[in-house]
Amino acid sequence: MKTFEIALYPGDGIGPEVLDEAVRVLDRVQNRLGGFQLRMTRLPWGGGYHAQHGTVVPESYLDALREFDAIFLGALGDPERLPDHVTLAPIVQIRQQFDQYACVRPTKLFPGVSSHLAQPGEIDMVVVRENSEGEYTVCGGRFKRGQPQEVALQTAMHTRSGVLRILRFGFQQAMIRRRRLTMITKSNALQYSMVLWDEVFDQVASEFPDVEADRQHADAAAMNFVRHPSYFDVVVASNLFGDILSDLAGAIAGGLGLAPSANINPERKFPSMFEPVHGSAPDIVGEGIANPVAAILSAAMMLDWLGLSEAAAWIRTGVQDTLASSLGTPDLGGTLTTNQMTDRIIECMGDGQS
Ligand code: NAI
Ligand code: MG
Repeated sequence: MKTFEIALYPGDGIGPEVLDEAVRVLDRVQNRLGGFQLRMTRLPWGGGYHAQHGTVVPESYLDALREFDAIFLGALGDPERLPDHVTLAPIVQIRQQFDQYACVRPTKLFPGVSSHLAQPGEIDMVVVRENSEGEYTVCGGRFKRGQPQEVALQTAMHTRSGVLRILRFGFQQAMIRRRRLTMITKSNALQYSMVLWDEVFDQVASEFPDVEADRQHADAAAMNFVRHPSYFDVVVASNLFGDILSDLAGAIAGGLGLAPSANINPERKFPSMFEPVHGSAPDIVGEGIANPVAAILSAAMMLDWLGLSEAAAWIRTGVQDTLASSLGTPDLGGTLTTNQMTDRIIECMGDGQS
């Protein structure tokens, strides 16, 4: 039997609430399908850990995580007790130290979910965000702090090899989807960084003649996500553009409660990390009404990455059938609790023998 070591990192706020539900679903698939085992190790890190130890994670946390096949994260952020740059630091470190340079955020408008922009089936795209460099490079400074003449410099860093590898990853995704790829640029204004992206795009597009590829400026793409969302299949963007556009993509297809994500190290030298796009939602923590779907779909992405695509597909069917019945948590206009929503998904999954 194939065994996978999974690090569970529930984190803060609704993180543990939604992660526990996803674990129920994972337990269900492994018990029912057999043939594989997910050995899950729960890590008690976050705001609560900080209250006891003075840090949100132990010093050797990266070494501890390195040993796992995958990391499954709930959400981080405990804004009442700690500043975000303290609680969220591990996420940034994990993404960078484990070279999880491809952030994959699929967006799909499921039947039963209302959208003012499109009909079900018309939105089915994945935003692939460069996750290791670009605008989020820590490079810059502030001079004459607090004075009227203060200057802030924030330098972006785009490497040819970094752009090349994320575009190749995106084109490979397009090959297993609808074979269309849109690269987000802004080379009409950013004449160094985005012109480099354009040049590398031309090179990689020629390696994948079967993919219909185009470029759109970030501002035009934002408009087109709203006006013609059905146009998009795979969208590849730099760190900042991908961050913004993937939130927009999530919002047009039912909101944060449904949006999963994966931080992938495609070479599999390090564990990849799977997490809902949303944060710790302090405004609803403890109420038992957080939507577990984003976490459950993130778990399905993890199973796909581990080569367990049958199990992943089974979970997605359960989610799809649940949403189609127009039942949901309050964020979807429904009245189900977190727990009831998961019960319903597990019920819709049936016995998995179909
Ligand atoms: P958030 O994503 O936690 O919440 C935004 C809004 O969406 C809130 O109204 C919340 O109730 C709602 N929401 C989020 N997830 C939901 C779910 N599963 N079901 C129903 N409603 C849901 O973003 P916010 O409020 O800006 O940040 C809260 C904390 O989370 C901060 O400390 C922030 O830094 C952190 N954060 C962490 C992230 C991560 O762990 N990857 C990502 C984004 C924010
Ligand atoms: Mg974001």
